[in-house]
Amino acid sequence: MCGIVGYLGKNDCVENIKEGLLSVEYRGYDSAGISYIHDGAIQIQKRVGSVANLFDSITCPTDTHCGIGHTRWATHGEVCEKNAHPHISFDNRFSLVHNGIIENYAVIKDGILKDIPFRTNVDTESIVNLVAYFRIVNPKLSVLEALCETLKNLQGSYAVAMLALDTPDTIYFARKESPLLIGKGDGETFISSDVLGLGKSCSEYVVVPNGVYGYINKDEVKAFEESGSDVCLEFKSMISHSERAQKGDNAHFMQKEINEIPTVIENTVKIYLNEDNPISKVDKSFWQDIEKIEFIACGTSYHASMVGAMFTEDNAHKVARTHLASEFVYNPPLLNKNTLCVFVSQSGETADTLHAVRVAKERGAKSLGITNVMTSNLASECDVCLPICAGVEVAVASTKAYNAQVTVMMILADFLRDGDYKDIAEKILSQAASIDLDGMWASAKKFVKRVANSSSIYFVGRHMDYITCLESCLKLKEISYIPCEAYAAGELKHGTIALVEDGTTMLAIVTEPKLISKTLNIVEQAKARGAKLIYFTSLNLKDFAVSEKDVMAAPKVDVELSPLFSIIPMQMLSYMVSVYKGYNPDRPRNLAKSVTVE
Ligand code: AGP
Ligand code: GLU
Repeated sequence: MCGIVGYLGKNDCVENIKEGLLSVEYRGYDSAGISYIHDGAIQIQKRVGSVANLFDSITCPTDTHCGIGHTRWATHGEVCEKNAHPHISFDNRFSLVHNGIIENYAVIKDGILKDIPFRTNVDTESIVNLVAYFRIVNPKLSVLEALCETLKNLQGSYAVAMLALDTPDTIYFARKESPLLIGKGDGETFISSDVLGLGKSCSEYVVVPNGVYGYINKDEVKAFEESGSDVCLEFKSMISHSERAQKGDNAHFMQKEINEIPTVIENTVKIYLNEDNPISKVDKSFWQDIEKIEFIACGTSYHASMVGAMFTEDNAHKVARTHLASEFVYNPPLLNKNTLCVFVSQSGETADTLHAVRVAKERGAKSLGITNVMTSNLASECDVCLPICAGVEVAVASTKAYNAQVTVMMILADFLRDGDYKDIAEKILSQAASIDLDGMWASAKKFVKRVANSSSIYFVGRHMDYITCLESCLKLKEISYIPCEAYAAGELKHGTIALVEDGTTMLAIVTEPKLISKTLNIVEQAKARGAKLIYFTSLNLKDFAVSEKDVMAAPKVDVELSPLFSIIPMQMLSYMVSVYKGYNPDRPRNLAKSVTVE
């Protein structure tokens, strides 16, 4: 899920590339690098670690106006300086940055390029070496033609930006599956993996269409299809240049984003209660003749879509199911023009989810995107797209976006029932206004040490609480690295309880009154085998011989809204455990914010 940026313009390219990389760094932070042409040669400077580390440790000229940069999340080749991008061609005449996976790089390396020296085992190097190879074997080919020949040999996904020594003031680009945008400002052109990486001076931007390649020079931006025919890029005015989020006086973005949840929920609801709300802008025919609804997503968004399916069945009384996008693409359900496929994605760039969109559309289903980034590929590829209005979410572990997604899920379910969602919207609004964040932080804090010192943790719950278990479990493991499992409480006795032994930590989530006894039955079975329990509940468990010291308070909300609010103390607990263990919750190891590779 790397981030690539490029700059060509009247100002210093190094400073602009640095700004761009800082804005897309959440896409991957294993290593960073920059390339520009200076003193008649391709210059490359790259370091393992953060963008700040790169620019603190290199010196660059201040009179360069064309360059490319990269921040990496490694998929092929270990994290080291040599494998960082940009990659240079074997003849030192091209440098290139890449987001994606070249699935046939080994075939290329052992085949057409078998006599070409490679510096690394990174798939990306096969791209830049192919360009150099085609230029050498056929000197009549222009750089663009050599790039076109190269693309014909690639299998997999790529968004690339490239420099060529023979054409120093030109950036070449190409895109297949991975995201790529071009922005234009006053005498400046930017290229980036996402809108955040486009410079502040950009007044217009375009999402590079899939399968398109081309070049940027000081006079023009030209784009072509594989056939070589021109592609007209329709630039749109920049909707708003999302200011790069600032932590303010928070220790981490995750802390800031958790504290923003009440405001985010309120903003999202108010936007959907407006006269010209996002749903009102959708042609009414889109919602007609829907016989079943399939929700498709990954990770946290998948958990939000589970709430969506549950609420859609319970409230709209329509058949609704959830699918992991990475499974959906290989095993799609029966789809037709009366199926509504809902794709939930904070970034709108998740490769698994985008692939699922294409599978669904090939089968004639209606496609509805729900995303936090309305300039994303999800927004452009779905028939209709609704925003979640969470604001920029930087921390890799999604929090406020999850709450915003669940809010929209609840609104959508009521809308699908009878077109009216005012009641649920106002119920959410009033509950959001009464959230006691400080009380939640204090309550969660009491359990940080117990959780942090656990070697593994089992989250158990039923019905809606099971969904909260799944999301709580993902949150904790992705930023504290503690092995966790989330189980439907009733399922524990069908095998997994075999893992329970003296001292096993179990966290039971009980927010639905009608489920107390059935859930606590299971918990008793685990306790009898040595489990140490934490009860996360808003209910009175005194009749169940539960000690107060083992109770972590869940917010007291309308039980129907439990999935929206009960997660907040769990997000807080995960954050505090990660910090307690000395980790950076904003940049957990091995992860990136936007998974743009399959
Ligand atoms: C959430 O905390 C994780 N970072 C991850 O599971 C994420 O939800 C998943 O990759 C989907 O991302 P998306 O919502 O941008 O599609
Ligand atoms: N495959 C390239 C690498 O491993 C790019 C990875 C990515 O886009 O995340 O460096």
